Amino acid sequence: MDKKYRKVIIAGNWKMNKLPSEVAGFISALKKEMPESANGCSVVLCVPATHLAALQKFKSRRISSGAQNISHFDKGAHTGEIAADMIRDLGADYCIVGHSERRADNGDTDEVVNAKIHMLHERGITPILCVGESLDQRDKGLTLEFVRYQIMAALHGLTPEQVRRTVIAYEPIWAIGTGRTATDEQAQEVCHAIREKLREEYGALISRKVSILYGGSMNAKNCAGLLAQPDIDGGLIGGASLKPEDFGVIVREGSK
Ligand code: PGA
Repeated sequence: MDKKYRKVIIAGNWKMNKLPSEVAGFISALKKEMPESANGCSVVLCVPATHLAALQKFKSRRISSGAQNISHFDKGAHTGEIAADMIRDLGADYCIVGHSERRADNGDTDEVVNAKIHMLHERGITPILCVGESLDQRDKGLTLEFVRYQIMAALHGLTPEQVRRTVIAYEPIWAIGTGRTATDEQAQEVCHAIREKLREEYGALISRKVSILYGGSMNAKNCAGLLAQPDIDGGLIGGASLKPEDFGVIVREGSK
């Protein structure tokens, strides 16, 4: 397939876990697990904003840093918010946008997700856009329609070049943190549909360059089958990214 045109990305999503003082120990344990050759595979650690300064010291050609959210406001009177400029100043290369936990817990709407993606591109930070259906939507056969809708709402108004530089993570809500993973075929079907939608809207040259990740209970045991799928270019990993040994297995698989 066209995988050679795309970056393979193994991204950890630490969510609200670990302390800034635990970053150094984690990185030294992870380094022991890293394969000799990256083979074009990038590792991204998406940590809480409070951990970015600690992570910045350990950034390398192979390990990039990411945040999990930014404000959709530029700056100013928004108590408790963190601006894109602030995470950039702490070295964030990536930022998760539209994670289903934020959509559910914090009311991030499609409009807000779209505004955040624009903000990140303007600051040169790569967005990792999360999309995915609920169990109810899957049961009703609405998965592909809903995911296509979410993608178009999130990417609205971006230039084709910005779309090319956006990473998309397909994360079925029913698979997140549940231990219930999408099958290789289910994950491939949706990731393929996302790429087809990008091809329709932005053309083949763009669509074959966008990295599309799978997320939702990916772990050391099931990663090989998922990462072998032609339209899956990596993973967004929650629980298993907290353990260097498990995360290391996934990084090695992504580096094959
Ligand atoms: P999980 O989380 O791997 O723990 O299911 C994935 C995510 O929410 O990004």
